[in-house]
Amino acid sequence: MEPIQVGLLGMGTVGTGVLRIVEGHQEDLQKQVGSEIRIAKVLVQDKSKSRRYALESDRLTEDAWEIVNDPSIQIVVEVMGGIELAKTYILAALEKGKHVVTANKDLMALHGAEILAKAAEKNCDVFYEASVAGGIPIIRTLIDGFSSDRITKIMGIVNGTTNYILTKMSQEGASYEDVLKEAQELGYAESDPTSDVEGYDAARKMAILGTLGFHTSLSFPDVSVKGISQISKEDIQYGKSLGYEVKLLGIAERQDDLISVSVQPTMVKKTHPLAAVNGVFNAVYVYGEAVGETMFYGPGAGEMPTATSVVADLVAVVKNLKLGVNGRRIFSPYKEKKLKTPEQ
Ligand code: NAP
Ligand code: HSE
Repeated sequence: MEPIQVGLLGMGTVGTGVLRIVEGHQEDLQKQVGSEIRIAKVLVQDKSKSRRYALESDRLTEDAWEIVNDPSIQIVVEVMGGIELAKTYILAALEKGKHVVTANKDLMALHGAEILAKAAEKNCDVFYEASVAGGIPIIRTLIDGFSSDRITKIMGIVNGTTNYILTKMSQEGASYEDVLKEAQELGYAESDPTSDVEGYDAARKMAILGTLGFHTSLSFPDVSVKGISQISKEDIQYGKSLGYEVKLLGIAERQDDLISVSVQPTMVKKTHPLAAVNGVFNAVYVYGEAVGETMFYGPGAGEMPTATSVVADLVAVVKNLKLGVNGRRIFSPYKEKKLKTPEQ
């Protein structure tokens, strides 16, 4: 069997985890898909940088087009981040009939509809499980697991960095600045952590969850956002004295055809399960009219949890390749959205 050739755009926190899993679990993966999955080329910004994972230098490139234009590469995994370049490379890869896996919520929350439309036109897969809630398979769950239900509310702690900061401030009285630095060192934070602390990252993820849960087309500007940068240790201690934990909560709701999506620091009663979600962990609560209340919990950021979702997507693409069914995932047609205004 010919190996399946993959191009990896990015070898930072997530890309390193992808290499570790694909190469470390190769035997198990081969048993599942029937071929070797080979990461043939890896894009980085600076080839001379020292790396945490040893890779032959001829597999590294600083030129993304070497991957996108390589006819032997069937799947492109984008974990470089950013919007414009990542979008250019992904659209070019799809144009050439390559399948795509991405962890990029910034991109999917802004240009997801365009990328998915291009994928449909080219009969290609685009999977993006790692873009929301790291290691929790919530995107698959919303698309497949709840396809039979009518979801009316999605509520979640969907940013690991801010939950890590709030937890350490609450449990250890640590300072906001110190814990943010720690979260950056652990690889949880975005390259510009403003996205995390100002709630933009969570807002992007809520736009993706709302789009999938409510079969509509939400994007980042549709979400009202407030982050945690103004939350003090005193606010957290005061909340605790009243029996609450402060959490950065995303809430997406629909009533009839009206949708509202917001992210803001919220006092969560200590008895509520979301109050017990600590550290880098995320949790997503989904309410469906038929199923009732459900909740999904797991690590929301970091190298290996995130890479678990990316590689699961890669395996899904390879399975589709074997079956010859790429691009055939049935999406509900997106409905025109009607956003709820404060007066409604
Ligand atoms: P990162 O550690 O900053 O790694 C980015 C990688 O991409 C680096 O290897 C970098 O090269 C390369 N790169 C960036 N811009 C490039 C360019 N213009 N040309 C060539 N190479 C470029 O980022 P990360 O934390 O792995 O995150 C990657 C993506 O996954 C982002 O979209 C992020 O939002 C998403 N994500 C991250 C996590 C997480 O926990 N970190 C979780 C879920 C989703 P160098 O190594 O040479 O600098
Ligand atoms: N910076 C993000 C977080 C990475 O902290 O949740 C995972 O998407």
